[in-house]
Amino acid sequence: MITTSSRYAPTRRVFDTPAAAAVAAADVVTKLVAERDQPVITFPTGSTMEGLYAELRRRVTEEKLELDQVRGIQLDEYVGVDDETPESFRAWLSDRLLRPAGLDRFLRLPSLAPTPESLGSYEASLAALGGVDLAILGIGGNGHIAFNEPGSPADSRTRVVQLNARTQEANRRYWGDPTAVPSEAVSQGIGTIMEARAILLIATGPAKAGILADAFEGPITTEVPASILRGHPNVTVITDTDAAAKLRG
Ligand code: PGA
Repeated sequence: MITTSSRYAPTRRVFDTPAAAAVAAADVVTKLVAERDQPVITFPTGSTMEGLYAELRRRVTEEKLELDQVRGIQLDEYVGVDDETPESFRAWLSDRLLRPAGLDRFLRLPSLAPTPESLGSYEASLAALGGVDLAILGIGGNGHIAFNEPGSPADSRTRVVQLNARTQEANRRYWGDPTAVPSEAVSQGIGTIMEARAILLIATGPAKAGILADAFEGPITTEVPASILRGHPNVTVITDTDAAAKLRG
């Protein structure tokens, strides 16, 4: 699918530093939690999110922000990992957000041994929660959102995906044994993500500048999965100045 213009213009907010971007992202979460009973929020992993989760933890301890009513949703996970796998996304997120924030209602992906039935019941559980109020996303250097690599269909659902070499390489730093990075993951599909009522994409650092410009000012194409987000009416992109450096508009 390739078109030349966007149907919607995402709201862009550029901040001087990654820390200021993290505070702005935490404000979005805090506002939703204040306004909505039992909000459903998709939480990603990745180094971009460290600042957001640190700020949310700070608000929980210092400002009495309560996240225990939040329904957390897992966005992606390696195939074959379990609770004992320290490199799992679930373990990463537990350490940084779920445990410190007392956020224990968390819908997990069926990553241990995914089947069409278990993947379907994950999507059914999402629907039973009433859908996602806010999907928080990072963006990969190749434009992926969650583990939807370039070429993923715009209407894809939650499924098993192959990780391409670039993504495996990017994730090697998290694994004690770098040869052990799984080659498969379970990921919400682009179509699943697009059903969220609001989407917040966060990108920081100069390494994201080129792909951010491709995604939000280049053609809308499945070769840059994040560009598909321009078909969604309620997307906010929060960046620091380094990541925004190649955006013209
Ligand atoms: P990063 O990952 O935050 O570690 O750069 C983002 C992503 O791959 O979605």
